[in-house]
Amino acid sequence: MAEVSITVVDDGPYLVTGPVALTGPEAAGRPPGHRTVALCRCGRSADKPFCDGSHARPRATRPSRSAAP
Ligand code: FES
Repeated sequence: MAEVSITVVDDGPYLVTGPVALTGPEAAGRPPGHRTVALCRCGRSADKPFCDGSHARPRATRPSRSAAP
């Protein structure tokens, strides 16, 4: 039986590799046979629960209080 592994990527997604079944509405339309799935753990993906790479974009920064007039 093939193994399933989950790799936690630093500042990135969970990479789930192996014979896993994706179920639920978010999985609809996903081509079967994908052996590696990246699941968002930063909360910034527009394609949750999947990672869309948004974790790599710089976060919007708030203006510093000391910079206010
Ligand atoms: S971990 Fe990649 S978008 Fe959230």
